[in-house]
Amino acid sequence: MADKFYITTPIYYSNDVPHVGHAYSSFIADTLAYYKRLEWFDVKFSTGVDENSQKVVEKAQENWMDVMQYADMMATKHRELWDNSWIRYTDFVRTTEPRHRELVQKVLQKSFDNGDIYEGVYNGMYCVGCEWFKKESDLINWRCPDHPNKEIQHLAEKNYFFRLSKYQDRLLEFYANNPDFVKPRYKFNEIIEFVKWGLEDFSVSRETNKFGIPLPFDADQVTYVWYDALFNYVTYCQEDESKWWPADVHVIGKDIIRFHGIYWPAMLWSAWYEAPHNLLVTGYLTLDGQKISKSIGNVISPAEYIEEYSRDMLLLYLFMGFPIGEDGDFDRAQAILMYNAKLSNNLWNLLNRFIALSLKLWGTITWDVWKVWNEKIELYQSCMNDYNLRSALETAFEYASEINKYVDDNTPWKISIDTEEWTKNLNDILFILISNLRKIAIMLLPFFDVKMRELLSRIGTPYDDTLTLTENLSIDPSVFHVVEKGEPLYMRIGK
Ligand code: MSP
Repeated sequence: MADKFYITTPIYYSNDVPHVGHAYSSFIADTLAYYKRLEWFDVKFSTGVDENSQKVVEKAQENWMDVMQYADMMATKHRELWDNSWIRYTDFVRTTEPRHRELVQKVLQKSFDNGDIYEGVYNGMYCVGCEWFKKESDLINWRCPDHPNKEIQHLAEKNYFFRLSKYQDRLLEFYANNPDFVKPRYKFNEIIEFVKWGLEDFSVSRETNKFGIPLPFDADQVTYVWYDALFNYVTYCQEDESKWWPADVHVIGKDIIRFHGIYWPAMLWSAWYEAPHNLLVTGYLTLDGQKISKSIGNVISPAEYIEEYSRDMLLLYLFMGFPIGEDGDFDRAQAILMYNAKLSNNLWNLLNRFIALSLKLWGTITWDVWKVWNEKIELYQSCMNDYNLRSALETAFEYASEINKYVDDNTPWKISIDTEEWTKNLNDILFILISNLRKIAIMLLPFFDVKMRELLSRIGTPYDDTLTLTENLSIDPSVFHVVEKGEPLYMRIGK
């Protein structure tokens, strides 16, 4: 039986359509899912919308719409955006679905029965933007730094609490035994330090909010956002929990690391589930230094960007311009430069050279000329398995530069025509060029699959879907043909 790989994106609040910061998480998950599919893993890739939240209710009211009608409309918009961006998810969850409500009520009851959920009174401050309770030390001028436009609410109400404090030692032991649990490592250190300082129980229900999942043991209260939302990841695998759970990777932004790294394992243990294997934590995309966000109003629409340029350009820029975990400013000019350098020049150069030389000679390999940069392939695979997409891409492009250099160094255009040396040397160069170009295109397949499949077909060595990625990478073509010039794979932008 094939190994399984289960990857998730956060479920996005459905009070608006996703922006480029959200698309960043979805592209990462899509690329890793694609890679694992090429390795013949059985892949589950889930995404969805977080609907049981006060801000969705507020947004529906602003639009004079019934909340469910509004939520339906937004769920459709989210799906459309992901479908048009070739995000190939296998599951899409809405937290208002009955299958999700049933699961959440089941786990709430389990934790209530074992004493991990108890009744208390909450008295403090709440940020609707984060949908979370805040401490005074979290605020700047009595405002949430991530949602400076929203008033902090003062709340005093009956709530149910989750006994997080009980799990402190178990969490620290789990972190020690799973040193790769959070990537990158410096993000992991942040949460370990946080847990060492001591944990407080947290509220899992609201009394005043009526839109949410009712507690099975107190129908006047609803659970909402954080308790309910995290369990979406289990909702998707209810039919075959023993196969799919625990999840392999949750791709998340840095603002939700505490929920995923601390609360989530404890909530799972309390309901008799295992903790997920990995959290992959991204930083913020900013515009002129400010987090791109709906509430700040500086969003870039991925749909418009893709329409104007292309998915490949956006993905290349997001992965190469922003090392996972770090914040970075979204710079449109930089994105174009990167596209021209990497996709339009470097890759096109290789293909173009192969085309030009293949017009001079074609044939069957007769000499032992294989020269393959195996260390690049190994490095690439270890980066992909480590979820390090930027280094994987860098490795593929460095590989392309080396092959370009190899051709430059061997100056095939200088070899004198019609001699035995001409035939042999040109043949050698062509085979080295095509076999390595094939490998580079395959390495880039999880990122730019449409264009890379086109490239592979154009050089007469299509990707063989009956073989795994590793097998495809180890095959070298034994014949080559004259290749038609055709259009550039990636048109250069500007001059
Ligand atoms: N609904 C919760 C997640 C629940 S998961 C069980 C939520 N939703 S969100 O729509 O506000 O954000 C979804 C993800 O997008 C988060 O991981 C967040 O960090 C990420 N991003 C939102 N703005 C971002 C940027 N400007 N840059 C990068 N990622 C950002 O939180």
